[in-house]
Amino acid sequence: MTLIPKAVLIGMPGAGKTRIGQDVAELLNVPFVDSDVEIEEREGVKIPQIFETRGEAEFRRIEADTILEHLHDFEGVLSLGGGAPMTDRVYAALESYIGEGGTVAYLDADPNEAIARASRSGNRPLLVDGAAKKWRKLYSQRRPVFERLANCIVHTKGKNPMQAAQNIADSA
Ligand code: S3P
Repeated sequence: MTLIPKAVLIGMPGAGKTRIGQDVAELLNVPFVDSDVEIEEREGVKIPQIFETRGEAEFRRIEADTILEHLHDFEGVLSLGGGAPMTDRVYAALESYIGEGGTVAYLDADPNEAIARASRSGNRPLLVDGAAKKWRKLYSQRRPVFERLANCIVHTKGKNPMQAAQNIADSA
């Protein structure tokens, strides 16, 4: 099967995946989809409610299904929830997508800036209570995975969203 998004963005909560993804889509003149938004539309509830009523494992199953569908039929820019590449099924699908010439861009943000941004939203169930400590723990687990997987790494510190987006659009 041919994997067709123009670019897929990964990174920690608060890294700016949604904002920068929208800018990449604008630069490439293609549609944009955020996996979290897609899941909420599909399930008809907000993500914290999915975690609360059905648990994280079920959220990861829905998330992986949603992402794999998009990898197969969405010709645009796709931003993934921060934990998505930690699911084996998603990681493997992204590896194949890269193998077919796709771009997986890891947005590496300054931790303090990302934590401040992530804490402003109440839509992140993994970061309630002690967000900074939890964020840093997840970062130490995920960073090596993101770096191993991605074929484009963009350090966002000191760049405005459009500059970061341009880096990704150039490699897409
Ligand atoms: C998660 C990040 C969230 C969302 C869910 C789980 C995570 O997306 O998918 O709350 O595991 O880090 P963002 O990265 O857009 O915040």
